[in-house]
Amino acid sequence: MSDLDTLVRDAKALFESCQTPAELENAKAQFLGKAGHITVLMKGLGALSIEEKKAQGALINKSKVAIEEALNAKRQALADAELNVQLKAEAIDVSLPARAQASGGLHPVSLTLERIEAIFGSMGFDVAQGPEIETDWFNFTALNTPPDHPARSMHDTFYVEGDYVLRTHTSPMQIRYAVEHVRKHKAALDANEAIPEIRVIAPGRTYRVDSDATHSPMFHQCEGLWIGEAVSFKDLKVVFTDFCYSFFETRDLELRFRPSFFPFTEPSAEIDIKFSSGPLSGRWLEVAGSGQVHPKVVSNMGLDPEKYIGFAFGMGPDRLTMLRYGVNDLRLFFDGDLRFLSQFK
Ligand code: PHE
Repeated sequence: MSDLDTLVRDAKALFESCQTPAELENAKAQFLGKAGHITVLMKGLGALSIEEKKAQGALINKSKVAIEEALNAKRQALADAELNVQLKAEAIDVSLPARAQASGGLHPVSLTLERIEAIFGSMGFDVAQGPEIETDWFNFTALNTPPDHPARSMHDTFYVEGDYVLRTHTSPMQIRYAVEHVRKHKAALDANEAIPEIRVIAPGRTYRVDSDATHSPMFHQCEGLWIGEAVSFKDLKVVFTDFCYSFFETRDLELRFRPSFFPFTEPSAEIDIKFSSGPLSGRWLEVAGSGQVHPKVVSNMGLDPEKYIGFAFGMGPDRLTMLRYGVNDLRLFFDGDLRFLSQFK
């Protein structure tokens, strides 16, 4: 085997052993670089005769071409290998099933609150929001429930340091809203002129130490208040009956105003409803507390109880949601289980 054949064979073997493009380019320099074997051989031709130059030059050239071919083949092989590694790393499995676009929805209790607001809104009621951490004054005392009042024990709640409680009902909003109304119309009141009636609902979260299938330590209430110069219990009956017809989308139900007691209303009544048909028919179900606003409460609002009179009610939107959708465990509303919640979309 000629020296040239050996050279070509060595080059091929060296190129083949290279693992990276950088290694390969170093190996190339040994043969084709400025001081490489082929270059040196080419330079050596100068010393030969014309005939020998031709013959020897052609042989060297053939070897050079062979080495270059081997080099290019290995360059390509290394580039291919690199591309394959990259393709593997960035592979996208197009056979995986696509993730479905999930659409959200309102919580069932939110749906109820929206309904309540829309229905009372259509009857001319404003919607008000108030704090969930309430002062003792607004939650109890202003509502004719002084510190030693036994009714407080039914409202066992979470006390916050200082004079604060997590509100046990939305009734404090009666006082807050009315006081603001009175402040707004102070000039007219001082001048003994008529002022607009107070007509408001106040939905929101409330708290009591209570927990079972139909009670949760956090629950919702919606307060209603209508005060004017001639608002009577009859108006309460009309408004609440209309509300129930609209809310349950049926007139197939009866209402009962069952005498009861609240410190802030006199007389007071629990409002029960009974459906005449459907799965809940035949049973009286309590949906709200209500009554004519107590004169002491009217007075705490900053209004003259001799002149202003009205009614208030407090209903349970959680309860209403259970009745509307036939849910029998209140806790389902607050567990956050999508299998339950997604049924209301
Ligand atoms: N606040 C009362 C309760 O939580 C309900 C109520 C509201 C009663 C307004 C009368 C008037 O039980």
